[in-house]
Amino acid sequence: MTIVKLDGVTRSFGEKQVLGGVSLQIEKGEIFGLLGPSGAGKTTLVNILTGQMPCGGKAEIFGMDCARIGREVYRRTGAVLDNCGLYERLTCMDNMKLFARLHHTPVSAIAETLRAVGLDGSEGLRVRALSKGMRQRLKLACAILHAPELLFLDEPTSGLDPATAEEIHALMRRLRESGATLFLTTHNMEEAYRLCDRIALLHEGRIVEEGQPAAICRRHGSDAELHIVTSDGKELSLPNLPENAGTVAALMREKKLRAIHSAEPDLGTVFLRLTGKELTQ
Ligand SMILES: Nc1ncnc2c1ncn2[C@@H]1O[C@H](COP(=O)(O)OP(=O)(O)OP(=O)(O)O)[C@@H](O)[C@H]1O
Ligand SMILES: [Mg+2]
Repeated sequence: MTIVKLDGVTRSFGEKQVLGGVSLQIEKGEIFGLLGPSGAGKTTLVNILTGQMPCGGKAEIFGMDCARIGREVYRRTGAVLDNCGLYERLTCMDNMKLFARLHHTPVSAIAETLRAVGLDGSEGLRVRALSKGMRQRLKLACAILHAPELLFLDEPTSGLDPATAEEIHALMRRLRESGATLFLTTHNMEEAYRLCDRIALLHEGRIVEEGQPAAICRRHGSDAELHIVTSDGKELSLPNLPENAGTVAALMREKKLRAIHSAEPDLGTVFLRLTGKELTQ
């Protein structure tokens, strides 16, 4: 079932075109990652999809035009956005209660959600006293309290330590297992590679590559060279030619072959090759 559908989406600010015709589809139960450097148009696309910004072309979630999203669709959707406010002077619990009221969710669901994001025990803390990681967890808790079918996450782990980021990834995987569809933006290629079922690389408002992360890397890889790791930890690269078959066979016979693979670039290198730009800038 298609949950998100974009067809030739455009958006300009004044003279400047930020999105130049973006088309993509996201199916139910996927973690989809939109990957691109700063200024590529990722947040703009999330704003369009969450009904906060009009656009040219066609943008739909749950088969509904994003420009006409009503209460029914908001009830099925959650979002962790940079600009999405927490009430600084209120406690975690009171922030959650506000979201519960907004979504007509029973207050009894709050405790379990706070536990899911690892904030149990912090109910009474005011938001202004929270660390960056705790804030991000609370934002996530507010966004998933009403068990949305579609969750938008704009840079969900940006600036977090690796352990906290990993916990948030684990939670995202659990949400996927429960049937939710996740749309995240990131410029962290490792995050995208490990977490996402499919990704799109966005460059200057256009999608330059799309697919499963590993498949993208393979597509841009080369089988002209083999990388070998031997059992004593040495690494060597060999041209993938018949005359090297003896070397590989000898390593196998002597049980010295630990790993052998073709030369594949990481997502950052793929992006650099496609655009001439670094993904992380
Ligand atoms: N409301 C706005 N008014 C004018 N220009 C805007 C507006 N929102 C975004 N832009 C411009 O659109 C471009 C894309 O911005 P956007 O925030 O979508 O990028 P991004 O990919 O999310 O970047 P980052 O990784 O830094 O968050 C930028 O050049 C930005 O200045
Ligand atoms: Mg952004």
